[in-house]
Amino acid sequence: MAGLIPQNFIDDLLARVDIVDVIDARTTLKKTGKNYSGLCPFHNEKTPSFSVEPDKQFYYCFGCGAGGNAIGFVMNYENLDFPEAIENIAAQMGIDVPREESSVSQQTREKNQTLYDILEQCVRFYQSQLRRHPDRTHAVDYLKSRGLSGEIARDFALGYAPPGWNNLLDALGKDESSKKALLNAGMLIENPDNKQHPLYDRFRDRIIYPIRDNRGRVIAFGGRVMGDDKPKYLNSPETPVFHKGEELYGLYEARKNMRKLERILIVEGYMDVIALAQNDIHYCVATLGTATSTSHLRRLFKLVPEVVFCFDGDKAGREAAWRALEQVLPLMEDGRTARFLFLPEGEDPDSQVRRIGNSEFVRNLSEATQLAEFFFESLGKKVDMNSLEGRASLGKMSLPLIQKIPSGIYHQLILDQLGSITGVDPQTLGNMEKSLEKTADRGAARGATREASRDDGRGMGSTPPPALESVPVSNQPPGRKKQSGRSACMRAVNLILLKPDIVNELDEAGEIAELVSPDSDLLLEVIALAKKHPSSSTPELLGRIYATPLGSQLTQLLNREQITPAEGVTQEFNEIITHLLDSQRRRKSHHGWLEEARQKVHSRQNRLNQEQNPPGES
Ligand code: GTP
Ligand code: MN
Repeated sequence: MAGLIPQNFIDDLLARVDIVDVIDARTTLKKTGKNYSGLCPFHNEKTPSFSVEPDKQFYYCFGCGAGGNAIGFVMNYENLDFPEAIENIAAQMGIDVPREESSVSQQTREKNQTLYDILEQCVRFYQSQLRRHPDRTHAVDYLKSRGLSGEIARDFALGYAPPGWNNLLDALGKDESSKKALLNAGMLIENPDNKQHPLYDRFRDRIIYPIRDNRGRVIAFGGRVMGDDKPKYLNSPETPVFHKGEELYGLYEARKNMRKLERILIVEGYMDVIALAQNDIHYCVATLGTATSTSHLRRLFKLVPEVVFCFDGDKAGREAAWRALEQVLPLMEDGRTARFLFLPEGEDPDSQVRRIGNSEFVRNLSEATQLAEFFFESLGKKVDMNSLEGRASLGKMSLPLIQKIPSGIYHQLILDQLGSITGVDPQTLGNMEKSLEKTADRGAARGATREASRDDGRGMGSTPPPALESVPVSNQPPGRKKQSGRSACMRAVNLILLKPDIVNELDEAGEIAELVSPDSDLLLEVIALAKKHPSSSTPELLGRIYATPLGSQLTQLLNREQITPAEGVTQEFNEIITHLLDSQRRRKSHHGWLEEARQKVHSRQNRLNQEQNPPGES
């Protein structure tokens, strides 16, 4: 994966791939004339507004405004970044992706290799100490007391850092360059003020847990004291090969142990992962003292369709579970499952599995709380579900979160469930969700400074789950009536996109240039663009718009406007423009009348004032 993908390879790939094949492999397309159409995979719809144009190798959805080329489609659809999307398309075509390495990245690679090499020597050193050091029984007894066998210690490459300041330094730091490598790998600490030990071992008198990356290379270590000293755990610092927030302890071991993983259990500690493996549960990973992030989860979902989070059953555990829920929502595509296993207070997976054993633990695991259940249960606790107000509040808290779930069946099922809990028709909820999205998008698109009001559930009794403090909710009531000016302009924009040549007759410098209504600036820009390129087709016009700052605004504003059959387009467009200009004229004359009235009132006021306070009196 190292190195850049050469640009000419990307150009070639785009020239050879057919966007129709790429999209058709993922969603059903039907040939309609020279184009293809289907249900848009990026939003919920019943009638197709998704169109693929083979001539231009471009797709566009008139419903939600999504659009782009084959690479863009795969990025959006598969949730991949650019190079990953290229890998994906190339794989579908049976082509290998070449990589070119800049001299800088080649240097980095060589430097990193030095670190991998020295870290590998460190693992071997610590392992040998566990077997041979005179004080080894101390460590071996500790591991035994935690129920670990020699086999498991070997699988996880556990080791022993003996007491003393320079065991590792003496064993591996034979010359300046290896000292430097040990230092860069985080294995030594440099302190010139310490006269006796200006350079000394980071890990001393600890059990050593090597942390490996995806490919099994050792990138860092964790070390645990065997007694009650502090800190209990010590980790390697950040180094060029170790980024703590991104790694998952145990993932390599899990993959190595099970050819086909079906689910992954996410726990908190090194010892949890190891104790579970000792009890034949080999599909566990731990974050390294940080919270589980969306990027951790994205990696896991590439390997398995199901993740289970394991937390304490206490308040802190539930709050952590809620934060995990927030991270996982955007990844909940159809076919994926996320569940929550809550342990009895005071237990962690290590103590629990040792107490109840494999089969009961696995049974608990398979009965773990479903995401939806935890979701509604947590929110339900914040409100009085017996009152209308409480149910409304539940709805209002849920929608912005549900919105994060990618569209699909799962999304719909959660909406349905919210419907049955609140007694609101799911269709109505869906519409509220959409209008929420629009108002939120509008705010974002315009860089609105107005702070979104927060629904923090206050007044409902207790504090909300931590998540809710940060959920912006529009202060517009959902489902409010659209302003006619907005829908008219947006409708016109939509029609131009459908049939760019409808602007040909329009005099863009004429009266229309003075149009002032919501979104008229956008309409005027789109008209100008369409007029500047008179023979553009829809995708060409879109391609041009996407290249400007207007592009993202347009995508957001176009959300769920309706489409008209082609024959009605010109007529409807002309009607809208006439309507816009008419109301503009009316507004102008209305303004004239208003101004006159205001002046009359003003002068009358002056007169009255003068009558009450004749000049001269004070
Ligand atoms: P055991 O006591 O060995 O069972 O540890 P544990 O895995 O139960 O640890 P605990 O639940 O206390 O902490 C979970 C994880 O947090 C550990 O695996 C470490 O990654 C991290 N952690 C715990 N204590 C410390 C500490 O003192 N320093 C640092 N840096 N990390 C810690
Ligand atoms: Mn523990």
